[in-house]
Parts: sequence; structure tokens; C-alpha cells
Amino acid sequence: MSRELDKAIEASEIAGDVLRKSFGSSLDVQFKGPIDLVTEVDVESEKTVVRVLREAFPSYGFLTEESGHSGSVSDARWIIDPLDGTTNYTHALPLFAVSIALEVKGKLSVGVVYNPISGEMFAAEAGGGATLNGQLIHVSSQGQLRRSLIVTGIPYEASYLDDSLRLWDRFVRTSQGVRRLGSAALDLCWTAMGRFDGYYERGIHSYDIAAGCLILEEAGGTLSSFTGAELDLEARECVGSNGPIHSAMVKLTSQVV
Ligand code: IPD
Repeated sequence: MSRELDKAIEASEIAGDVLRKSFGSSLDVQFKGPIDLVTEVDVESEKTVVRVLREAFPSYGFLTEESGHSGSVSDARWIIDPLDGTTNYTHALPLFAVSIALEVKGKLSVGVVYNPISGEMFAAEAGGGATLNGQLIHVSSQGQLRRSLIVTGIPYEASYLDDSLRLWDRFVRTSQGVRRLGSAALDLCWTAMGRFDGYYERGIHSYDIAAGCLILEEAGGTLSSFTGAELDLEARECVGSNGPIHSAMVKLTSQVV
């Protein structure tokens, strides 16, 4: 295990303690948009992750959900969502995670997604496979969309909503079922371990999906844009699947492009 992965796991565990301690208590909630919210716990979790990683790697930059870009302009940057699934968290729903990725020269090299309530720690390193609590994980082998369980997210921004609801309708009619968990990081990891067969979402940010994308890729999955083109983390859309159903998913997502 690289020192970077080791430290990312450590940072996610320390931030996970912060999240666990306040879970279920009443929180000071601020609104970033009509329904997009942030709590003091998001901010504290982010400070914790950044402190641990900055101490260990002072020359690496950061892109975080609550503070944006910071740190030095180097080839390496951490991409962090200190609490992915904030809405769930504020409703005491135990589906949320700390998500930490490292990008080096534009390529994802480390990914960690940790749910401190379930204790599920997903981790991956480029070329090294993906694990759940230390055990290798792999995507499902389901080849038919009709038999596939799909997960998605409903965007906060109204401009993405009509397309998202149209797609929901199409996937509900053509798959085994569609779920909406409220944490894109967990959606991708649960696809990586075969609980789901595919994930799609538009309106997401790179910090929501960076770590989960590497974990899914390393578990044997396939990633792309809505048109099937190479995934661009900044493009605010993602299709991730087990591989065999990818083209069937893209056939649907490409219709809303
Ligand atoms: C959100 C979650 C959700 C997704 C939203 C994200 P946040 O992240 O990942 O599943 O549908 O697009 O913004 O705000 O809880 O960190």
C-alpha cells in the first residue's frame, strides 16, 4: 500500500469519527442553494481531512466541496468530499461517506470512500484492484439491463431536473429497478461490489465521484460520459457500470444529451 493510500484511509477514519459523534444530533444547517445544504459537521470533517493530508504531503494541492481549490499548484491534488450524503446525514439516515481521491497529473491514483456508521471502507489504487475492508471486490456479471438494479441521484439544480426525471422514467421501464440512495460516492462503490449493476447521474461534481470512480474502475467496471465518451470528472455527468450493461445504459443516457 502506498503512503498516500495509507494516509487517505487514516484521514477518512479520523473524519469519520467526527461525523459519527454528531450523527443524529440537531445541527446548524445552512443552505447553499434552495435544497443544497451544508452543516458545521461538513466543515469540521473537511478541516480534519485537510489537516491530516497537508501534514503528510505539504506540497499537494486540494479541491474540496466546502472550500474549493487550495494549497500549492502541484501535479498532485486531493479531491475531497468530507460528507457525501449531507441530506441523509441531517435526517439521521446512515447512508453517507467521507470521499477522498488523489489525482496525479490528471489521473486518479488513490480512492477511499468510508461510511463510518456501517464501517465499510472502500479503497483502491490505480492498477492495484479495489477492496472493501481489505477484501478484493468485483463488479457483477449481469448482462441484461432488464435484470439489472440501477442507482442514480436526483440533482439539486433545477436546470438538470427535467432530463433527470425523463431518464428515471426510462430506466424504471427498462431495468429491474432504480434506487436513489443520496450518496454518489456510495452509489459507485456499491456498483463496484455488485450490489448495483449500474449508476448514472447528471449534475454531480468531481468531489462527489472521484474516489468512487477509481474504486469502480479498479473493481472491473466501466465509466463514461452520458454519450459514452471518456469520463471527464469536471463535466458534471457520469455513467458507471459493471461493463456488460454499459452500452444499454448509454443508449438511454445519450438520448438526453
Ligand atoms: C450529493 C450526493 C447525492 C447526489 C448529489 C450530490 P453531497 O452530495 O452525492 O447522491 O445526488 O448530486 O451533490 O451534497 O451530499 O455532498
